[in-house]
Amino acid sequence: MSRTLELLLHCWTLAALCVTFTAAGCGLAQPTWRLDGRCGHSFPLANGEPSTCDKRSERPCCSDFGYCGNSDSHCRCEDCVDYRAIFQGCVQRYSGLKGVIESQDYPSPYPANTECCYDIQRPDDSYCGVKLYFDHFDVEGSMEPFCQRDWLAAEYCVPEKGARMCGNLTGTVHEFLYQPGSSALRLSFRSDTYNLHSGFHIRYELLRSCRAPYADPMPTAIPGSGGALCYTKVTNRKGTINTPYFPNNYPNEVDCVYEFERNNSLVCGVRMRSRVFELQEPFTSPFGGACTDFFHCPGCGYLCGSVEYSWVARFQPDATAIKFHFHSDEADTSKGFMATFEQIYDCD
Ligand SMILES: *[C@@H]1O[C@H](CO)[C@@H](O)[C@H](O)[C@H]1NC(C)=O
Ligand SMILES: *[C@@H]1O[C@H](CO)[C@@H](O)[C@H](O)[C@H]1NC(C)=O
Repeated sequence: MSRTLELLLHCWTLAALCVTFTAAGCGLAQPTWRLDGRCGHSFPLANGEPSTCDKRSERPCCSDFGYCGNSDSHCRCEDCVDYRAIFQGCVQRYSGLKGVIESQDYPSPYPANTECCYDIQRPDDSYCGVKLYFDHFDVEGSMEPFCQRDWLAAEYCVPEKGARMCGNLTGTVHEFLYQPGSSALRLSFRSDTYNLHSGFHIRYELLRSCRAPYADPMPTAIPGSGGALCYTKVTNRKGTINTPYFPNNYPNEVDCVYEFERNNSLVCGVRMRSRVFELQEPFTSPFGGACTDFFHCPGCGYLCGSVEYSWVARFQPDATAIKFHFHSDEADTSKGFMATFEQIYDCD
């Protein structure tokens, strides 16, 4: 597999500051253990991945012979894996139009080895997104090149590593969007084996009006096409998407929307891989880089220049679609992109 794109510019406003931002799994996807009590590399799941043991069951450890169990020979030998020690699942739901989200044990240090989800629920479609005020945010790690230790992330954003938030972000404000049909915005939080940081206290409020014009992008006509809108509704499970006129240069001043309809409720996300990705290089300013032509998942970071990526864009709970947006400005063009996609059932 090509090397995954790890690092990007994430520009929250088109012209100015670029900040790196977030996402991660939160242990709610398909089970990764088997029903026959076996585990490990020699006992793969149906999808070929190594199996685990159910960390919440009475047999949470995988022995060196590939059996789930609870004795020292399952949990404490050199090649044993204790899944309880890796993640303690937790999910918190917030149903208010405004509220406060705190890390576990706040303001004392949050526990090590946690993987938590914070679901900010959406009462109805009149709400487009959520604004988060980081009154206090102190999470172990540094954003450069991306958060590797502990992080909070809006789970739907891609590229996943570029969307992680960590370090001292006290005083910052962030906005994320609900996907079509979604019932909640899921933030996920992960901590590694050690922590002394105080965590976060975040105020949130639901929004009825979201950051224009890129929150819910509107497709424009493709120049030279006789008025065809640059809108692709993707209903197939697998295929490719590309910029207009690919492999020739894309036109200036166009907004394209690629809307992936969720094939069914068991599909957790869309895996996408770049085959070609050549957009105008980012423009650098005293405030950092900014993309003038870009591709993004609305509400998340922008991608431009020449990059390779492979990512899984997740559906939010109950979402019926994921939209992607390509924008070109009035000057300079490039070859554009072509990417393969597949709707998948296992996102972890
Ligand atoms: C974190 O950032 C805030 C705002 O910039 C600052 O007031 C605070 O002192 C910082 N905290 C630490 C521990 O560096
Ligand atoms: C799901 O994908 C398959 C294969 O691409 C397609 O035939 C089917 O119509 C899709 N179902 C829905 C509900 O979109």
